[in-house]
Amino acid sequence: MTQALHSLPTPSLLLDVATFERNIARLDARLRARGNVLWRPHLKTAKSAAVAARILAGRAAKAAVSTLQEAEYFAACGIRDLLYTVPITPDKIARVARLTQRGIQLCVILDDLAMARTLTREGALLGVRVPVMLEVDCDAHRGGIDPASPELTQIADELAQGRGTIFRGVLTHAGASYSCTTSAQITALAADERSAAVKAATRIRSAGVACPQISVGSTPTAMFGDSFDDVTELRAGVYFFNDLTMAGLGVCSLADVALSVLTTVVGHQVRQRRLLLDAGWMALSADRSPASQRIFAGYGVLASVDGQLLPGLGVLDTNQEHGMVGRIDDQPIDFTDFPIGTRLRVLPNHACATAAAFDAYHALMPDGDVALWARCRGW
Ligand SMILES: Cc1ncc(COP(=O)(O)O)c(C=O)c1O
Repeated sequence: MTQALHSLPTPSLLLDVATFERNIARLDARLRARGNVLWRPHLKTAKSAAVAARILAGRAAKAAVSTLQEAEYFAACGIRDLLYTVPITPDKIARVARLTQRGIQLCVILDDLAMARTLTREGALLGVRVPVMLEVDCDAHRGGIDPASPELTQIADELAQGRGTIFRGVLTHAGASYSCTTSAQITALAADERSAAVKAATRIRSAGVACPQISVGSTPTAMFGDSFDDVTELRAGVYFFNDLTMAGLGVCSLADVALSVLTTVVGHQVRQRRLLLDAGWMALSADRSPASQRIFAGYGVLASVDGQLLPGLGVLDTNQEHGMVGRIDDQPIDFTDFPIGTRLRVLPNHACATAAAFDAYHALMPDGDVALWARCRGW
């Protein structure tokens, strides 16, 4: 395997398949132990048919996506039950309807009464019934309607009565879990996530509207939630790759980070005590999410080409195509350990942002082979 890593172009995106499969098994075991909660993996980070096939192996072929491009791509790969988790707008309805007409169950989300009316009207005009969920806010992080709001039941009723829609239920996402500082906070937020969704569903049902589905999830709340009672599906997307943000939250250890960027040492800047890499922010992303967490090394943590962590080193700065590696304590680097041409790996701050720079994964298979797994792009 290490031999193959010396002949790949750099920078390249590596996926350690054994670690990736261990991460899938870990979440699976956790959910089985908590009432066999069904999961709907979010494929916004993966964006790859080969990755999805491994995540969904032995499970129902359903997933969540974050772009219509992903919906079309995964539908073409045979995943026919999809949930598009960015609110629908009028300009996208015709594109959704085209998938619906092909027999793909593409469920959309919204949290606005006027948009609900537009969707029911446009769906009927296009001759389709679009499955739709009502987004509920559980943590003031992003979108969603307050589960206590009077509009909640009004929107649900509009979607249930409308000729162009099928009301599927409620959905929420505890995005604020990324800012938690303790696992106890994440556990508490997971409880809020569940209770906001269950409260919304209960109110809708009490108003006489069927609300079959309750969908919740983020990687941190999936990994720290105590109870998923009454939840019908859990969405998580980063858990199978993991990254430094997840390690900083205590969701995983550095050994569980399956994704890395293969890079080459291209220079020694002796006066500045920096190694130069051919991976800058274009390859690593400019995301510095772990800046306030306990594991922070600028733009990524360093490992050797065979994946052994190099403690104390980080990508402290980046330009477009250069990464500047130094010791976190700013002590000198022994440059003889890193001759020009040395291959290293960088563990990413944020898997979604780093993977987005690449067209494919170089999948490091447990038997030592390296496979090329394509990714989809665009919106
Ligand atoms: C609506 C929604 N559901 C689920 C997820 C998955 O959460 P995570 O990325 O923490 O796995 C996301 C992530 O952005 C999301 O936006």
